[in-house]
Amino acid sequence: MTLKAVIRGCGAFLPQKVLTNEDLASMVDTSDEWIRERTGIRERHIAGEDEKTSDLAAAAARAALDAAGMAPNEIDLIVVATTTPDLTFPSTAAIVQAKLGIESGAAFDIQAVCTGFIYALSTAEKFLTTGQHKRALVIGAETFSRILDWDDRATCVLFGDGAGAFVLEAQEEAEAGSRGVMNSYLRCDGRMVDLLYVDGGVSSTQSVGHVRMQGNRVFREAVNRISEAMQRVIADAGVAVADVDWFVPHQANERIILGVAKKLDLRKEQVISTISGQGNTSAASIPLAYCAGVDDGRIKQGDLVLIEGMGGGLTWGAALLRA
Ligand code: ACO
Repeated sequence: MTLKAVIRGCGAFLPQKVLTNEDLASMVDTSDEWIRERTGIRERHIAGEDEKTSDLAAAAARAALDAAGMAPNEIDLIVVATTTPDLTFPSTAAIVQAKLGIESGAAFDIQAVCTGFIYALSTAEKFLTTGQHKRALVIGAETFSRILDWDDRATCVLFGDGAGAFVLEAQEEAEAGSRGVMNSYLRCDGRMVDLLYVDGGVSSTQSVGHVRMQGNRVFREAVNRISEAMQRVIADAGVAVADVDWFVPHQANERIILGVAKKLDLRKEQVISTISGQGNTSAASIPLAYCAGVDDGRIKQGDLVLIEGMGGGLTWGAALLRA
């Protein structure tokens, strides 16, 4: 019996508060023009004081369950990709499980920064296709605003808060047909930790710390590594770039997204971009963009979708799925 992990629904959640480029220009030495030209970002959402990562995650999960027509207690696995957990422990996934009223199954977090959703999706797919679990919530959720240095114009203009979720279900091949997660490709090169990191942590400073990034060096690494991952994931799945319907990238920088698309000969119209209104929401950006594509009718059942991400570690990866 061959099992496949089929996406039954997706959900998104963005906090109400919006921070525009103009707002930022009154806080640090920057301008709307600089931010838009270098990144494509116009505004981003910021979690309220009482909103935690688990609140955002649970809201996105509820929306995904609604879209799938499923009740919370049908879920037996929760994987949350986050860099900004509510607490050092327990996992945000455990807190989300309780918020959803789920009392059984497994729940854990995955930490691969902006590549987190690809790592989480790939992990959940393996739990489902072995038959160990039946239905999973895979969530990317971040309150990145909490680890930004609001005096550092090179980083504070880039990020936003939000959450996105997939409901994945193990289905036998006969039922799934061509649908499901087809392939994934995950990489890390820990020698590049100092390109993008947080200068605090439990066993080093006993504090949370702030994001530090050598942006132009990350930029240089991004296009080549991401395109290589995309080419590998496509080739290993036995399909061609021309078969891909939609490209749903991690939303770090519009110039990276368009550079990668061009390198693979993907048309601009195939790119699903949310960066202008959301900024970089780290592990949440891929499911948020995917949901935007589903909600506005671009991504339809049976479409071939390519996703990719790159983040601190450095980590990077790509996955191919049939909606
Ligand atoms: N407003 C105005 N000027 C600024 C700002 C700002 N917000 N930020 C930096 N500058 C200045 C710099 O100080 C520098 O000035 P100088 O020339 O006088 O020294 C100048 O702009 C150019 O700086 P660069 O860093 O070289 O600018 P670049 O064109 O590389 O754009 C950016 C910066 C947008 C950060 C880009 O490098 C980038 O997007 N990098 C990749 C980010 C990314 O993909 N991260 C991975 C995912 S994130 C994660 O995993 C958590």
